[in-house]
Amino acid sequence: MGQARPPSAAWANHEDRMILQAAHLIDAQRLWARHMQLAKFGATPAGGVDRQALSAQDIAAQQTLLRWGAELDLVTARDEAGNLFLRLPGHEPDTAPVMTGSHLDSQPTGGKFDGVYGVLAGLEAMQAIRAAGIVPRRSIDLVAWMNEEGSRFAPGMMGSSVFCGASTLESILSVRDCHGISVRQGLEEVRAALPELPLWPLQRPVHAYVEAHIEQGPILERESCSIGVVTGIQGKRTFSVVLQGAEAHAGTSRRADRKDALMAALQVVQALAAHCIDEQDIVKFTVGRFQVRPNAPSVVPAQVEFSIDLRHPDSLVLQSLGDQIEPLCVQNAGRCSVVVRELSNAKSLEFPQAIRSLIAQNAQAQAFTCMDILSSAGHDARYMHAVCDSGMIFIPCAGGISHHEAESATEVDLARGARVLVETLLQLAA
Ligand code: GLV
Ligand code: MN
Ligand code: MN
Repeated sequence: MGQARPPSAAWANHEDRMILQAAHLIDAQRLWARHMQLAKFGATPAGGVDRQALSAQDIAAQQTLLRWGAELDLVTARDEAGNLFLRLPGHEPDTAPVMTGSHLDSQPTGGKFDGVYGVLAGLEAMQAIRAAGIVPRRSIDLVAWMNEEGSRFAPGMMGSSVFCGASTLESILSVRDCHGISVRQGLEEVRAALPELPLWPLQRPVHAYVEAHIEQGPILERESCSIGVVTGIQGKRTFSVVLQGAEAHAGTSRRADRKDALMAALQVVQALAAHCIDEQDIVKFTVGRFQVRPNAPSVVPAQVEFSIDLRHPDSLVLQSLGDQIEPLCVQNAGRCSVVVRELSNAKSLEFPQAIRSLIAQNAQAQAFTCMDILSSAGHDARYMHAVCDSGMIFIPCAGGISHHEAESATEVDLARGARVLVETLLQLAA
C-alpha cells in the first residue's frame, strides 16, 4: 500500500480493511454492462460471439478496452506477440508486476464470457483499487493475450506462449489462417488500427499471475458453489492430419483404382476413436475441424485435413495415447499417404498451493462457497505457470455450456469472482 508502514498489528488490520473495501467497490452492474458491450463486437444472430484473433472485431474490442483503461488513467502498452497491457502503477515500479487477464478472441460459435471475463474482472479490480485510493507496492498489469483460442491461427495460447518463451516470435508470425493470411499480417493490421503504444519486452519478469475464468464445465453449478479454486490444468496435445489421395470421376472410376481421401479419413478417425475413447470418459478426443478437397459432389475426394484435440489429466496416459496417433493414421490410411503434425504438447500441471490457499481464504472471508477444481479446459495460465507463481479463479456458468453461443453466467457470480480476484491481486502486490 502507498502509505508509510507503522510496525504494528493495527497496520495489518488497516491493510486488510483497505483490501476488503476494494472488494466492496466491485460494481456488479458495470462489470455485466461491459460484458454486454464487448459482446457486440462479433455478435452472432443466435446471441453468441464470433471474434477471431486479430480480426476487425478483435480490434474493436481492444480499442474499447483501451478506452476504458484511459478513463482510469492506466498505462497502456503492447508487445511484439500482439499481447495488450494496461498497467496500474505501483509505488515501487522497479519490482516485477502482478499480472491478471485472459483473452478477447472467441471460437466461431463462442459465447460472451470465455476469456472476456478474465479481462473485464481484471479491469474491474483495477477500477475498485483506484476507487479505494490504494496504490499497491507492485504494479498490477492487465493483459489481453493474443489468440488464446487457436481457432483462426493454430495452435492457441500463441501470445502467452511467446511472452513466456515457450515458442519463438518467428514461429508464430508465419502461421496462416485458412485464407492464407499470416499472423504477421494480422498483427500489422492491429498495430495500424490501435493508437501508438510503447513496446514492452517479451519474457519480462512477472511476480505472480492470476486468471479469472468461467468454469466451462458443470461442476460448480451442480455443487452450488460460487468460486472454484483451480488446482491445475489437464494435459492436452493437438495434431493436424493430412490424407492425400487423388481426384477421380465419381461415376467412372473403379473402386480398386480410387485413392479416396475421405473414405481413408473415416477409417483413420474410427481407429483413433477406438484407441482413445475410454469407458470412464476421462480421455477427451475431438476431431473438430474436417476439410475435404475439392469438396464437390461428383469428385472423389483428393485430400482431407483434420484436427485432433486430445486431453487427459494424467500426463503419462496422454503421452502414450498421443504417441499412437501417427502409427494408427499410417496403418489405416489405405492407398492414401498421410502426414501427421503435432502442433502442441502440454502436460498436466498443478498450480502452487500458496496461491490456491490465498484464493480459497479470500473466498471464505467473503462467505462465498468455494471448492477445489481441476481445469479441463486450457488457459494462458498454463504458460504463465512456467515463469511465475500462477493460479486461477473459476466461477460457474449455466449448464457448464461453453464454446457455444448459449454460454451464460450470472451478474452475481461475475462480481463474486472479481471480488476474490481484487483481494488476491492486492495481497500478491503488497
Ligand atoms: C481453450 O479454449 C480450450 O480449448 O481449452
Ligand atoms: Mn478461455
Ligand atoms: Mn475457449
